[in-house]
Amino acid sequence: MSEPLILGIESSCDETGVGIVRGHQLLANEVASSVDEHARFGGVVPEIASRAHLAALTPTLTRAVESAGIDLRDLDAIAVTAGPGLMGALVVGVSAAKALALALNKPLYGVNHLIGHVGVDLLEHGDLPKPSLALLVSGGHTNILRIGDLASDIEDLGTTIDDAAGEAYDKVARLLGLGYPGGPLIDRAAQDGNAKAIAFPRGLTSPRDLARHRWDFSFSGLKTAVARWVEMERRADREIAIPDVSASFQEAVCDVLTAKALDACQHFDIDTIVLGGGVAANSRLRGLLAERCEAAGVTLRRPRPGLCTDNGAMIAVLGAELVKAGVKPSQLDLSADTGMPLTQVSI
Ligand code: KG4
Ligand code: ZN
Repeated sequence: MSEPLILGIESSCDETGVGIVRGHQLLANEVASSVDEHARFGGVVPEIASRAHLAALTPTLTRAVESAGIDLRDLDAIAVTAGPGLMGALVVGVSAAKALALALNKPLYGVNHLIGHVGVDLLEHGDLPKPSLALLVSGGHTNILRIGDLASDIEDLGTTIDDAAGEAYDKVARLLGLGYPGGPLIDRAAQDGNAKAIAFPRGLTSPRDLARHRWDFSFSGLKTAVARWVEMERRADREIAIPDVSASFQEAVCDVLTAKALDACQHFDIDTIVLGGGVAANSRLRGLLAERCEAAGVTLRRPRPGLCTDNGAMIAVLGAELVKAGVKPSQLDLSADTGMPLTQVSI
């Protein structure tokens, strides 16, 4: 069979994405973001996100189809994010995908957003070696996964016990008054800072914690430590050294993420790490992970930053993998699942 032509729709949070792929070949990736509408609230407002998806979906779809130069009738299947995400937001994408599948008489795949973040790397670097280890770092999730097969065999090795890495970036950016979303702003501010200026804590890395939480993460203590430090400086009437706090906070996050991912690789004898999720766009995480992978003889696969944040191409390529693996399509009456488990690739 020639490589499947798949259209993917993403609407789980504040990005409306439509991507089109032929197997691992990216044909179109159009994204409309409502991030500016949320910025003044300091975080995503679900109702605003849902309305923005509704307004953006058809134009984004039209742009993607035009830019790929395909005829919708030639599609082999439609893939859509079924979860996890915000219910009102997910429902917009899922309804659009159902309508398209019904009108075009094509199979429909309701897929897991988070596995899409891992799968997007296939567009740049081809099939994943089996098994591979995924370090998944997004606004809502932080996990170490063992990927036996992207279409059917995902094992969750560790997760955050409180905040996700992206959430920690966003919260710390807010308390530093940098704005929303915080990840890229801290990334930028940290460029001019000294990462060793402040010794912030590394969550779940003491011998006692490692015994119970070897591949789990915790970022809420770090966030509190930053808040305390800022408060202390204010009380002492000192100006907050934003670049130094940003760099030191960022170092604490990236140090733990990379150390635990490499430890899991060694423990399970896995020689490839694939990085995924919005925080995978972070320059220090990309750099430090590359350094440590090289030192450990582990191959690192990292999608380019533009593919790390939410988009439709990641959903389309995961759909293509499911079609190629012969996975049964979803029912047309599928429901969005806000809490879709990581181990479930499709509905
Ligand atoms: O994967 P994503 O686009 O949406 C979710 O599925 O959650 O991730 C969004 C998160 C936000 O928390 C954002 O601050 C973070 O990714 N992020 C970054 C960077 N770019 C986006 N965090 C650190 N550094 C970045 N350059
Ligand atoms: Zn995401």
